Amino acid sequence: MKQVYLDTFGCQMNVADTDRMELLLFHSGYIRTGEVQDADLVLINTCSIRDKAEQKIYSLAKNLKPLKETNPDMILGFTGCLAQQEGERFLEKMPFVDLVIGPDGVEHIVQVIKDVKDKKLPVVRTQFDTDTNYQIPELSGETPLNPGPTAFVNIIKGCDKFCTFCVVPFTRGREKSREAEEIEQEIKLLVSRGAREIILLGQNVNAYGKRGLKQPVPFHELLYRIASIPGLKRLRFITSHPKDFTRECITAYRDIDILANHIHLPVQSGNNRILKEMRRMHTIEEYISIIEELKAVLPDIGVSTDIIVGYPSESESEFEDTLSLMEKIKFNNSYMFSYSSRPNTPAQYFPDLVSQSVKSDRLQKTIQLQKRLTLEQGKKIIGKEIEVLVESESFKNDSDFRGRNAQYWSVNFTGDKRQIVPGDMVKVIVEDATGHVLKGRALLLKGYKKLMVAAGSKT
Ligand code: 5AD
Ligand code: SF4
Repeated sequence: MKQVYLDTFGCQMNVADTDRMELLLFHSGYIRTGEVQDADLVLINTCSIRDKAEQKIYSLAKNLKPLKETNPDMILGFTGCLAQQEGERFLEKMPFVDLVIGPDGVEHIVQVIKDVKDKKLPVVRTQFDTDTNYQIPELSGETPLNPGPTAFVNIIKGCDKFCTFCVVPFTRGREKSREAEEIEQEIKLLVSRGAREIILLGQNVNAYGKRGLKQPVPFHELLYRIASIPGLKRLRFITSHPKDFTRECITAYRDIDILANHIHLPVQSGNNRILKEMRRMHTIEEYISIIEELKAVLPDIGVSTDIIVGYPSESESEFEDTLSLMEKIKFNNSYMFSYSSRPNTPAQYFPDLVSQSVKSDRLQKTIQLQKRLTLEQGKKIIGKEIEVLVESESFKNDSDFRGRNAQYWSVNFTGDKRQIVPGDMVKVIVEDATGHVLKGRALLLKGYKKLMVAAGSKT
Protein backbone atom coordinates (compact mmCIF):
# COMPACT_ATOMS: atom_id res chain seq x y z
CA MET A 1 0.00 0.00 0.00
CA LYS A 2 1.07 3.61 -0.56
CA GLN A 3 1.50 5.89 2.43
CA VAL A 4 -0.31 9.11 3.24
CA TYR A 5 0.73 11.63 5.87
CA LEU A 6 -2.16 13.77 7.13
CA ASP A 7 -1.91 16.80 9.39
CA THR A 8 -4.83 18.85 10.70
CA PHE A 9 -5.16 22.44 11.87
CA GLY A 10 -8.23 24.04 13.42
CA CYS A 11 -11.58 22.83 14.65
CA GLN A 12 -13.26 19.43 15.11
CA MET A 13 -14.92 19.80 11.69
CA ASN A 14 -11.45 19.73 10.18
CA VAL A 15 -10.47 16.71 12.29
CA ALA A 16 -13.61 14.95 11.00
CA ASP A 17 -12.75 15.95 7.41
CA THR A 18 -9.23 14.55 7.83
CA ASP A 19 -10.66 11.26 9.17
CA ARG A 20 -12.97 11.13 6.17
CA MET A 21 -10.07 11.67 3.76
CA GLU A 22 -8.11 8.94 5.55
CA LEU A 23 -11.00 6.55 5.04
CA LEU A 24 -11.50 7.42 1.35
CA LEU A 25 -7.77 7.15 0.69
CA PHE A 26 -7.57 3.82 2.53
CA HIS A 27 -10.19 2.48 0.13
CA SER A 28 -8.05 3.62 -2.77
CA GLY A 29 -4.85 2.01 -1.49
CA TYR A 30 -3.23 4.44 0.95
CA ILE A 31 -2.37 3.70 4.57
CA ARG A 32 -1.70 6.51 7.05
CA THR A 33 1.85 7.09 8.25
CA GLY A 34 3.15 9.33 11.03
CA GLU A 35 6.44 9.90 9.18
CA VAL A 36 6.24 12.64 6.59
CA GLN A 37 9.52 11.53 4.89
CA ASP A 38 7.99 8.09 4.12
CA ALA A 39 4.83 9.46 2.53
CA ASP A 40 3.81 9.24 -1.13
CA LEU A 41 1.09 11.75 -0.41
CA VAL A 42 1.17 14.61 2.12
CA LEU A 43 -2.07 16.43 2.90
CA ILE A 44 -2.28 19.40 5.25
CA ASN A 45 -5.87 20.21 6.27
CA THR A 46 -5.83 23.93 6.97
CA CYS A 47 -7.65 26.52 9.05
CA SER A 48 -8.11 30.25 8.44
CA ILE A 49 -10.23 31.31 11.41
CA ARG A 50 -7.54 33.69 12.70
CA ASP A 51 -4.39 35.21 11.24
CA LYS A 52 -2.16 33.11 13.51
CA ALA A 53 -3.54 29.84 12.06
CA GLU A 54 -2.86 31.13 8.57
CA GLN A 55 0.74 32.12 9.36
CA LYS A 56 1.45 28.69 10.90
CA ILE A 57 0.32 26.96 7.72
CA TYR A 58 2.46 29.13 5.45
CA SER A 59 5.53 28.41 7.56
CA LEU A 60 4.76 24.66 7.49
CA ALA A 61 4.38 24.87 3.70
CA LYS A 62 7.81 26.51 3.44
CA ASN A 63 9.29 23.77 5.63
CA LEU A 64 7.83 21.10 3.34
CA LYS A 65 9.34 22.64 0.20
CA PRO A 66 12.77 20.91 0.52
CA LEU A 67 11.04 17.53 1.00
CA LYS A 68 9.07 18.06 -2.21
CA GLU A 69 12.25 19.09 -4.04
CA THR A 70 14.17 15.96 -3.00
CA ASN A 71 11.15 13.76 -3.65
CA PRO A 72 9.31 15.24 -6.68
CA ASP A 73 7.03 12.17 -7.03
CA MET A 74 5.52 12.89 -3.65
CA ILE A 75 2.16 14.66 -3.97
CA LEU A 76 1.81 17.65 -1.64
CA GLY A 77 -1.66 19.06 -1.06
CA PHE A 78 -3.38 21.69 1.06
CA THR A 79 -7.04 21.19 1.89
CA GLY A 80 -9.62 22.91 4.10
CA CYS A 81 -10.46 26.52 4.92
CA LEU A 82 -7.24 28.35 4.02
CA ALA A 83 -7.12 26.41 0.75
CA GLN A 84 -10.72 27.53 0.06
CA GLN A 85 -10.00 31.14 0.99
CA GLU A 86 -6.84 31.44 -1.11
CA GLY A 87 -7.49 29.04 -4.03
CA GLU A 88 -5.19 29.93 -6.98
CA ARG A 89 -3.40 32.51 -4.81
CA PHE A 90 -2.11 29.67 -2.63
CA LEU A 91 -0.42 28.16 -5.68
CA GLU A 92 1.02 31.52 -6.70
CA LYS A 93 2.61 31.85 -3.25
CA MET A 94 3.62 28.17 -3.03
CA PRO A 95 4.19 26.97 -6.63
CA PHE A 96 5.67 23.62 -5.49
CA VAL A 97 2.23 22.53 -4.19
CA ASP A 98 0.25 19.93 -6.24
CA LEU A 99 -3.29 20.40 -5.01
CA VAL A 100 -5.44 22.96 -3.25
CA ILE A 101 -8.97 21.93 -2.31
CA GLY A 102 -11.63 23.46 -0.07
CA PRO A 103 -13.72 21.67 2.57
CA ASP A 104 -16.33 20.64 -0.01
CA GLY A 105 -13.60 18.81 -1.94
CA VAL A 106 -13.15 16.16 0.77
CA GLU A 107 -15.43 13.63 -0.96
CA HIS A 108 -13.49 14.16 -4.20
CA ILE A 109 -9.99 13.73 -2.79
CA VAL A 110 -9.31 10.45 -4.63
CA GLN A 111 -10.37 11.90 -8.00
CA VAL A 112 -8.32 15.08 -7.46
CA ILE A 113 -5.20 13.03 -6.75
CA LYS A 114 -5.84 11.02 -9.90
CA ASP A 115 -6.18 14.29 -11.88
CA VAL A 116 -2.87 15.56 -10.50
CA LYS A 117 -1.15 12.33 -11.55
CA ASP A 118 -2.80 12.18 -15.00
CA LYS A 119 -2.34 15.82 -15.93
CA LYS A 120 0.99 16.25 -14.18
CA LEU A 121 -0.25 19.71 -13.27
CA PRO A 122 -1.44 21.26 -9.99
CA VAL A 123 -5.20 21.14 -9.36
CA VAL A 124 -7.27 23.76 -7.54
CA ARG A 125 -10.82 22.76 -6.52
CA THR A 126 -12.71 25.36 -4.53
CA GLN A 127 -16.26 25.17 -5.84
CA PHE A 128 -18.99 24.48 -3.27
CA ASP A 129 -21.35 21.50 -3.60
CA THR A 130 -24.47 22.46 -5.48
CA ASP A 131 -26.66 19.84 -3.73
CA THR A 132 -29.23 21.32 -1.37
CA ASN A 133 -28.53 18.80 1.35
CA TYR A 134 -25.43 17.23 2.76
CA GLN A 135 -24.59 13.57 2.34
CA ILE A 136 -21.66 11.51 3.55
CA PRO A 137 -21.86 8.31 1.49
CA GLU A 138 -21.26 5.18 3.53
CA LEU A 139 -18.22 3.15 2.53
CA SER A 140 -18.56 -0.57 2.63
CA GLY A 141 -15.71 -2.90 3.47
CA GLU A 142 -12.74 -2.65 5.75
CA THR A 143 -11.75 0.49 7.67
CA PRO A 144 -8.27 1.30 8.96
CA LEU A 145 -9.32 2.01 12.55
CA ASN A 146 -12.22 1.47 14.88
CA PRO A 147 -13.47 4.60 16.63
CA GLY A 148 -12.38 5.18 20.23
CA PRO A 149 -15.00 5.50 22.98
CA THR A 150 -15.76 9.03 21.73
CA ALA A 151 -16.70 9.61 18.10
CA PHE A 152 -17.60 12.80 16.22
CA VAL A 153 -20.48 12.87 13.73
CA ASN A 154 -21.14 15.75 11.33
CA ILE A 155 -24.81 16.67 11.18
CA ILE A 156 -24.66 20.04 9.41
CA LYS A 157 -22.02 21.96 7.52
CA GLY A 158 -21.55 25.62 6.66
CA CYS A 159 -23.00 28.68 8.33
CA ASP A 160 -25.58 31.31 7.33
CA LYS A 161 -25.05 33.65 10.25
CA PHE A 162 -22.38 35.94 8.78
CA CYS A 163 -21.08 37.34 12.05
CA THR A 164 -19.04 40.33 10.90
CA PHE A 165 -15.67 38.97 12.12
CA CYS A 166 -15.98 35.41 10.85
CA VAL A 167 -14.57 33.79 7.74
CA VAL A 168 -16.52 30.51 8.10
CA PRO A 169 -19.51 31.41 5.87
CA PHE A 170 -16.97 32.14 3.11
CA THR A 171 -14.79 29.06 3.59
CA ARG A 172 -17.50 26.49 4.37
CA GLY A 173 -20.43 27.91 2.44
CA ARG A 174 -24.15 27.80 3.20
CA GLU A 175 -25.76 25.68 5.91
CA LYS A 176 -26.68 22.17 4.78
CA SER A 177 -28.09 19.43 7.01
CA ARG A 178 -27.73 15.66 6.64
CA GLU A 179 -30.83 13.47 6.58
CA ALA A 180 -31.57 12.18 10.11
CA GLU A 181 -31.74 8.60 8.89
CA GLU A 182 -28.21 8.80 7.48
CA ILE A 183 -26.94 10.24 10.78
CA GLU A 184 -28.66 7.45 12.77
CA GLN A 185 -27.15 4.79 10.50
CA GLU A 186 -23.67 6.22 10.99
CA ILE A 187 -24.08 6.35 14.77
CA LYS A 188 -25.39 2.78 14.93
CA LEU A 189 -22.34 1.66 12.98
CA LEU A 190 -19.97 3.59 15.25
CA VAL A 191 -21.62 2.15 18.38
CA SER A 192 -21.38 -1.37 16.96
CA ARG A 193 -17.64 -0.74 16.49
CA GLY A 194 -17.02 0.51 20.06
CA ALA A 195 -18.10 4.17 20.31
CA ARG A 196 -19.90 4.99 23.57
CA GLU A 197 -20.13 8.76 23.31
CA ILE A 198 -21.19 10.68 20.22
CA ILE A 199 -20.41 14.35 19.73
CA LEU A 200 -22.61 15.89 17.04
CA LEU A 201 -20.69 18.40 15.01
CA GLY A 202 -21.48 21.49 13.04
CA GLN A 203 -20.41 25.10 12.83
CA ASN A 204 -23.90 25.78 14.00
CA VAL A 205 -25.45 22.49 15.14
CA ASN A 206 -28.71 23.85 16.47
CA ALA A 207 -29.57 25.36 13.08
CA TYR A 208 -29.92 21.69 12.04
CA GLY A 209 -32.95 20.76 9.96
CA LYS A 210 -34.05 24.28 9.12
CA ARG A 211 -34.25 23.55 5.42
CA GLY A 212 -33.14 21.30 2.61
CA LEU A 213 -34.04 18.00 4.26
CA LYS A 214 -36.32 15.60 2.40
CA GLN A 215 -37.67 14.52 5.80
CA PRO A 216 -37.62 17.70 7.93
CA VAL A 217 -36.50 17.02 11.50
CA PRO A 218 -35.85 19.83 14.01
CA PHE A 219 -32.64 19.65 16.04
CA HIS A 220 -34.28 18.67 19.35
CA GLU A 221 -36.11 15.81 17.66
CA LEU A 222 -32.85 14.55 16.23
CA LEU A 223 -31.47 14.47 19.79
CA TYR A 224 -34.37 12.28 20.99
CA ARG A 225 -33.96 9.94 18.03
CA ILE A 226 -30.22 9.51 18.55
CA ALA A 227 -30.61 9.07 22.32
CA SER A 228 -32.75 5.99 21.72
CA ILE A 229 -29.94 4.13 19.92
CA PRO A 230 -29.04 1.11 22.09
CA GLY A 231 -25.50 1.04 23.50
CA LEU A 232 -24.97 4.80 23.41
CA LYS A 233 -23.94 6.11 26.84
CA ARG A 234 -23.45 9.81 26.23
CA LEU A 235 -24.45 12.44 23.70
CA ARG A 236 -23.09 15.97 23.18
CA PHE A 237 -23.13 18.61 20.46
CA ILE A 238 -20.87 21.51 19.42
CA THR A 239 -21.18 24.41 18.52
CA SER A 240 -24.50 26.15 19.17
CA HIS A 241 -25.66 29.67 18.42
CA PRO A 242 -27.81 31.49 21.03
CA LYS A 243 -30.22 32.69 18.31
CA ASP A 244 -31.12 29.09 17.37
CA PHE A 245 -31.35 27.80 20.94
CA THR A 246 -34.99 26.73 21.34
CA ARG A 247 -37.14 26.00 24.41
CA GLU A 248 -37.56 22.46 23.03
CA CYS A 249 -33.83 22.02 23.24
CA ILE A 250 -33.90 23.00 26.93
CA THR A 251 -36.66 20.42 27.48
CA ALA A 252 -34.50 17.83 25.71
CA TYR A 253 -31.76 18.51 28.27
CA ARG A 254 -34.30 17.79 31.01
CA ASP A 255 -35.69 14.64 29.38
CA ILE A 256 -32.73 12.88 27.80
CA ASP A 257 -30.63 11.11 30.43
CA ILE A 258 -27.63 10.52 28.19
CA LEU A 259 -27.48 14.15 26.99
CA ALA A 260 -24.40 15.39 28.87
CA ASN A 261 -24.85 18.22 31.37
CA HIS A 262 -22.73 20.57 29.35
CA ILE A 263 -23.31 23.29 26.81
CA HIS A 264 -20.77 25.10 24.68
CA LEU A 265 -22.50 28.36 23.78
CA PRO A 266 -20.30 31.07 22.31
CA VAL A 267 -21.18 34.56 23.53
CA GLN A 268 -18.20 36.46 21.97
CA SER A 269 -18.73 39.64 24.03
CA GLY A 270 -20.45 40.76 27.24
CA ASN A 271 -21.61 44.07 25.76
CA ASN A 272 -24.78 44.64 23.72
CA ARG A 273 -23.34 47.37 21.47
CA ILE A 274 -20.43 45.12 20.51
CA LEU A 275 -22.77 42.15 19.96
CA LYS A 276 -24.82 44.33 17.62
CA GLU A 277 -21.69 45.48 15.77
CA MET A 278 -20.69 41.82 15.47
CA ARG A 279 -24.16 41.05 14.04
CA ARG A 280 -24.62 38.25 16.57
CA MET A 281 -28.41 38.74 16.55
CA HIS A 282 -28.87 38.23 20.30
CA THR A 283 -28.45 40.33 23.42
CA ILE A 284 -26.67 39.59 26.68
CA GLU A 285 -30.06 39.38 28.40
CA GLU A 286 -31.21 36.70 25.94
CA TYR A 287 -27.98 34.79 26.46
CA ILE A 288 -28.29 34.91 30.26
CA SER A 289 -31.91 33.81 30.06
CA ILE A 290 -30.96 30.65 28.09
CA ILE A 291 -28.33 29.77 30.69
CA GLU A 292 -30.74 30.44 33.57
CA GLU A 293 -33.41 28.25 31.99
CA LEU A 294 -30.88 25.48 31.47
CA LYS A 295 -29.71 25.80 35.08
CA ALA A 296 -33.32 25.62 36.25
CA VAL A 297 -33.65 22.13 34.73
CA LEU A 298 -30.03 21.03 35.34
CA PRO A 299 -28.46 22.97 38.23
CA ASP A 300 -25.04 21.36 37.72
CA ILE A 301 -24.79 22.02 33.97
CA GLY A 302 -21.28 23.02 32.83
CA VAL A 303 -21.15 26.03 30.52
CA SER A 304 -18.30 26.93 28.21
CA THR A 305 -18.01 29.72 25.68
CA ASP A 306 -15.94 31.55 23.04
CA ILE A 307 -14.86 35.13 23.65
CA ILE A 308 -13.27 37.70 21.35
CA VAL A 309 -11.50 40.68 22.87
CA GLY A 310 -10.41 43.83 21.06
CA TYR A 311 -13.13 43.84 18.40
CA PRO A 312 -12.87 47.13 16.43
CA SER A 313 -14.05 50.08 18.59
CA GLU A 314 -14.38 47.99 21.79
CA SER A 315 -13.86 50.47 24.67
CA GLU A 316 -12.31 49.63 28.02
CA SER A 317 -15.69 49.64 29.77
CA GLU A 318 -17.25 47.47 27.03
CA PHE A 319 -14.42 45.02 27.52
CA GLU A 320 -15.07 45.07 31.27
CA ASP A 321 -18.66 44.02 30.53
CA THR A 322 -17.18 40.81 29.12
CA LEU A 323 -15.27 40.22 32.37
CA SER A 324 -18.48 40.87 34.37
CA LEU A 325 -20.41 38.40 32.24
CA MET A 326 -17.73 35.76 32.78
CA GLU A 327 -18.03 36.30 36.55
CA LYS A 328 -21.81 36.17 36.39
CA ILE A 329 -22.14 32.98 34.33
CA LYS A 330 -19.08 31.31 35.88
CA PHE A 331 -18.04 29.52 32.73
CA ASN A 332 -16.27 26.18 33.29
CA ASN A 333 -14.08 27.02 30.39
CA SER A 334 -13.67 29.76 27.77
CA TYR A 335 -11.87 29.74 24.45
CA MET A 336 -10.52 33.29 24.34
CA PHE A 337 -9.23 35.08 21.26
CA SER A 338 -7.88 38.45 20.39
CA TYR A 339 -9.70 39.84 17.34
CA SER A 340 -7.90 39.30 14.06
CA SER A 341 -8.98 40.78 10.76
CA ARG A 342 -10.04 38.17 8.17
CA PRO A 343 -10.34 38.45 4.39
CA ASN A 344 -13.86 38.78 2.95
CA THR A 345 -15.41 39.68 6.31
CA PRO A 346 -17.18 43.05 6.81
CA ALA A 347 -15.22 43.74 10.02
CA GLN A 348 -11.96 43.99 8.09
CA TYR A 349 -13.09 47.43 6.87
CA PHE A 350 -14.19 48.71 10.28
CA PRO A 351 -12.29 51.73 11.58
CA ASP A 352 -11.14 52.36 15.12
CA LEU A 353 -8.97 49.33 15.51
CA VAL A 354 -7.88 48.40 19.02
CA SER A 355 -4.09 48.41 19.26
CA GLN A 356 -2.19 45.14 19.48
CA SER A 357 -0.90 45.92 22.96
CA VAL A 358 -4.39 46.71 24.29
CA LYS A 359 -5.72 43.50 22.69
CA SER A 360 -2.95 41.46 24.32
CA ASP A 361 -3.60 43.09 27.67
CA ARG A 362 -7.35 42.35 27.46
CA LEU A 363 -6.69 38.78 26.38
CA GLN A 364 -4.41 38.24 29.38
CA LYS A 365 -7.09 39.62 31.70
CA THR A 366 -9.73 37.20 30.36
CA ILE A 367 -7.29 34.28 30.57
CA GLN A 368 -6.42 35.10 34.19
CA LEU A 369 -10.07 35.47 35.14
CA GLN A 370 -11.03 32.20 33.46
CA LYS A 371 -8.16 30.42 35.23
CA ARG A 372 -9.55 31.57 38.58
CA LEU A 373 -13.16 30.65 37.66
CA THR A 374 -12.09 27.18 36.47
CA LEU A 375 -10.04 26.57 39.60
CA GLU A 376 -12.82 27.76 41.93
CA GLN A 377 -15.30 25.43 40.26
CA GLY A 378 -12.86 22.52 40.17
CA LYS A 379 -12.20 22.87 43.92
CA LYS A 380 -15.94 22.61 44.58
CA ILE A 381 -15.97 19.14 42.99
CA ILE A 382 -13.25 17.79 45.32
CA GLY A 383 -14.69 15.03 47.51
CA LYS A 384 -17.60 14.40 45.13
CA GLU A 385 -18.37 11.26 43.14
CA ILE A 386 -18.52 11.82 39.40
CA GLU A 387 -19.24 9.56 36.42
CA VAL A 388 -16.35 9.36 33.98
CA LEU A 389 -16.38 7.88 30.51
CA VAL A 390 -12.95 6.25 30.22
CA GLU A 391 -11.31 7.39 26.99
CA SER A 392 -7.90 5.77 27.31
CA GLU A 393 -5.18 4.61 29.64
CA SER A 394 -3.22 7.54 31.03
CA PHE A 395 0.29 8.54 30.01
CA LYS A 396 0.90 10.14 33.42
CA ASN A 397 2.83 8.40 36.20
CA ASP A 398 0.34 9.26 38.91
CA SER A 399 -2.80 8.01 37.16
CA ASP A 400 -3.97 4.95 35.23
CA PHE A 401 -6.78 6.32 33.07
CA ARG A 402 -8.09 9.49 31.54
CA GLY A 403 -11.59 10.42 30.56
CA ARG A 404 -14.26 13.09 30.91
CA ASN A 405 -17.28 13.62 33.07
CA ALA A 406 -20.62 14.93 31.82
CA GLN A 407 -19.60 18.58 32.40
CA TYR A 408 -16.60 18.01 30.11
CA TRP A 409 -13.92 18.18 32.77
CA SER A 410 -10.87 16.18 31.86
CA VAL A 411 -10.31 13.57 34.59
CA ASN A 412 -7.14 11.61 35.38
CA PHE A 413 -7.65 8.82 37.85
CA THR A 414 -6.17 5.71 39.36
CA GLY A 415 -7.97 2.40 39.01
CA ASP A 416 -7.51 -1.31 38.51
CA LYS A 417 -6.47 -2.15 34.94
CA ARG A 418 -7.90 -5.66 35.33
CA GLN A 419 -11.28 -4.14 36.00
CA ILE A 420 -11.57 -1.03 33.85
CA VAL A 421 -11.23 -0.65 30.08
CA PRO A 422 -11.68 2.36 27.77
CA GLY A 423 -15.38 2.76 26.98
CA ASP A 424 -16.46 1.98 30.56
CA MET A 425 -18.43 4.51 32.55
CA VAL A 426 -16.89 4.49 36.04
CA LYS A 427 -17.53 6.29 39.29
CA VAL A 428 -14.56 8.36 40.40
CA ILE A 429 -14.04 10.16 43.67
CA VAL A 430 -12.38 13.53 43.00
CA GLU A 431 -9.31 14.24 45.14
CA ASP A 432 -7.76 17.28 43.48
CA ALA A 433 -8.38 19.95 40.84
CA THR A 434 -5.64 21.68 38.87
CA GLY A 435 -6.46 23.90 35.91
CA HIS A 436 -8.88 22.08 33.64
CA VAL A 437 -8.02 18.68 35.04
CA LEU A 438 -9.61 16.81 37.92
CA LYS A 439 -7.69 14.05 39.65
CA GLY A 440 -9.24 11.13 41.47
CA ARG A 441 -9.58 7.45 42.16
CA ALA A 442 -12.04 4.94 40.70
CA LEU A 443 -14.43 3.48 43.21
CA LEU A 444 -14.45 -0.31 43.38
CA LEU A 445 -17.23 -1.78 41.31
CA LYS A 446 -19.89 -3.63 43.31
CA GLY A 447 -19.01 -7.26 43.99
CA TYR A 448 -15.49 -6.85 42.63
CA LYS A 449 -13.75 -7.19 46.00
CA LYS A 450 -15.61 -10.42 46.73
CA LEU A 451 -14.70 -11.72 43.30
CA MET A 452 -11.00 -11.02 43.83
CA VAL A 453 -11.03 -12.64 47.30
CA ALA A 454 -12.67 -15.74 45.82
CA ALA A 455 -9.96 -15.79 43.15
CA GLY A 456 -7.27 -15.63 45.87
CA SER A 457 -6.06 -12.13 45.05
CA LYS A 458 -4.41 -10.01 47.76
CA THR A 459 -5.89 -6.73 46.46
N1 5AD B 1 -10.78 36.94 15.33
C1 5AD B 1 -10.72 36.33 16.53
N2 5AD B 1 -11.47 35.28 16.87
C2 5AD B 1 -12.32 34.79 15.94
N3 5AD B 1 -13.19 33.76 15.99
C3 5AD B 1 -13.81 33.68 14.79
N4 5AD B 1 -13.36 34.64 13.97
C4 5AD B 1 -12.43 35.35 14.67
C5 5AD B 1 -11.62 36.48 14.36
N5 5AD B 1 -11.68 37.07 13.18
C6 5AD B 1 -13.42 32.94 17.17
C7 5AD B 1 -14.87 33.05 17.66
C8 5AD B 1 -15.46 31.74 17.24
C9 5AD B 1 -14.27 30.81 17.37
C10 5AD B 1 -14.38 29.51 16.66
O1 5AD B 1 -13.20 31.57 16.85
O2 5AD B 1 -14.86 33.18 19.07
O3 5AD B 1 -16.55 31.34 18.04
FE1 SF4 C 1 -18.74 32.20 12.36
FE2 SF4 C 1 -20.88 33.40 13.47
FE3 SF4 C 1 -21.19 31.24 11.86
FE4 SF4 C 1 -20.10 30.93 14.30
S1 SF4 C 1 -22.20 31.63 13.85
S2 SF4 C 1 -19.36 30.03 12.33
S3 SF4 C 1 -18.95 32.83 14.52
S4 SF4 C 1 -20.41 33.26 11.25
